[in-house]
Amino acid sequence: PRKIIIDTDPGQDDAVAILLALASPAEIEVLGITAVAGNVPLELTAKNARIVCELAGHTEIPVYAGCDRPLNRPLITAEHVHGKTGLDGPNLPDPQMQLTEGHAVDFIIDTLRAHEPGTVTLCPLGPLTNIATAFQKAPDVVDRVQEIVLMGGAYFEVGNITPTAEFNIHVDPEAADIVFKSGKQIVVMPLDVTHKALVTQSRNDAFRAIGSKVGIAVAEMTDFFERFDKEKYGSAGAPLHDPCVTAYLIRPELFKGRHVNVEIETQSELTLGMTVADWWGVTDRPPNAMFMGDLDADGFFALLKDRLAQL
Ligand code: BDR
Ligand code: CA
Repeated sequence: PRKIIIDTDPGQDDAVAILLALASPAEIEVLGITAVAGNVPLELTAKNARIVCELAGHTEIPVYAGCDRPLNRPLITAEHVHGKTGLDGPNLPDPQMQLTEGHAVDFIIDTLRAHEPGTVTLCPLGPLTNIATAFQKAPDVVDRVQEIVLMGGAYFEVGNITPTAEFNIHVDPEAADIVFKSGKQIVVMPLDVTHKALVTQSRNDAFRAIGSKVGIAVAEMTDFFERFDKEKYGSAGAPLHDPCVTAYLIRPELFKGRHVNVEIETQSELTLGMTVADWWGVTDRPPNAMFMGDLDADGFFALLKDRLAQL
């Protein structure tokens, strides 16, 4: 299995991404989960990550708290999407699990140094503050990363927090800039893909029909999470943004994209956090990202349902 660190701000869709990873031990070994401030403040994302591990029955996974605010800016949160707790919807018990001692950034650095180079993949599902801080604090670890597969950005789908920016990148554009300029090739799951991963009513029913604690909780999470997108975009259901990342590790052939240059806007107030993707190759800037654009949604949901049923 592929060794990964999940860096996350749960978030209902983060929760489903984590559940999918934990349900797929043949393909994925979760070395640890690092929480970052994003959808809700750090205290809540660090708590929600443990709630999800307990829901999955995986209390052995170390969960670390990381950065509580973006590199140079005040934190912007998204309670309007995820609810006050960040995980509104199901009624899940407070975690018994403790956080593991130490800072998430140090865990990321130590883990990359402790493993053979090229054997640990980073899976950021929130603002890139922890990852950028690790790369700044320990530049030697960048080369040791196997791959970065992240959820963030948008091209044709433009923005969901401003007219031109996606939430994760907009919240900490300086951090995103550091990661996109790190020299590591990045696999990007932008809104262009994640808005195709919609939990329609029949897909929601299928989760509920699993009948387990996990299946019902996921149905309740997506019930809550779809309100925003339905009202706002008239979307057919909750977009499962972050699970695209963990699904890619299991079935990369579900996704199609282009290897392009992506730069992050960090200056303009109007377009702050925009992922400027050179989709048509109109510059000679070197490609740094596999920017996904299409998804086999039926295949994605079949995988998800099958794996969640195993928890
Ligand atoms: C991203 O922002 C968060 O609200 C979601 O968890 C996802 O990571 C989508 O823009
Ligand atoms: Ca997220």
